[in-house]
Amino acid sequence: MRFTVAIDGPAAAGKGTIARLVAAEFGFAHLDTGLLYRAVGRKALEIGRGVIDPVQAAKIAEALADTDINRDDLRTARVAQAASKVAVLPDVRAALLQFQRDFAQRNGGAILDGRDIGTVICPQAEVKLFVTASDQVRANRRLVELRVGAPELALETVARDLKQRDIRDASRDAAPMVAADDALVLDTTEMTIEAAVAAAITAVNKRL
Ligand code: DC
Repeated sequence: MRFTVAIDGPAAAGKGTIARLVAAEFGFAHLDTGLLYRAVGRKALEIGRGVIDPVQAAKIAEALADTDINRDDLRTARVAQAASKVAVLPDVRAALLQFQRDFAQRNGGAILDGRDIGTVICPQAEVKLFVTASDQVRANRRLVELRVGAPELALETVARDLKQRDIRDASRDAAPMVAADDALVLDTTEMTIEAAVAAAITAVNKRL
């Protein structure tokens, strides 16, 4: 069976958690596409010693391996910024496109979360969700996650980082972050994760 669920939205809105739990509920494979951009951004920073070279970034994206994606150091604020920067580059996006489309076509169903899944990667997805939340709630959620590895981190720093990424991700020319016309918008500002997951499960059940 082929069945694709596309989940888009800004950072720390809850799309990763929703994607994981919906995937577990239906036995779908799950791909966090942000990890692809994070892996490219991290490697580009390493090779460029802190400076991202666009040509090098595209080469890294073309040669991306499982070992790059499965590293445990991709969830830092520095790597997130690098990911957002390489994500602006059309050649980087083009190099990652087919992998994501193949994943979406897996037998047994697939769920992908990112920024352009419902608009560019899988415009034919059976279910599209756009998960969002207020800036403040998202910054607080991300702070809790990042404080595990960086106890001194300030809320203002996290909020500024998210804002910079949101603006870059939504205003770029190549596959900007935007809700697909046919996406169900879930604003999780005042929603429990259980309620958001239940809404996503209902949306999937309607199409199965
Ligand atoms: O989901 P995330 O925060 O891990 O994503 C990191 C960055 O990668 C994000 O700021 C923009 C980019 N990204 C993208 O452009 N398209 C995607 N489908 C997923 C992520």
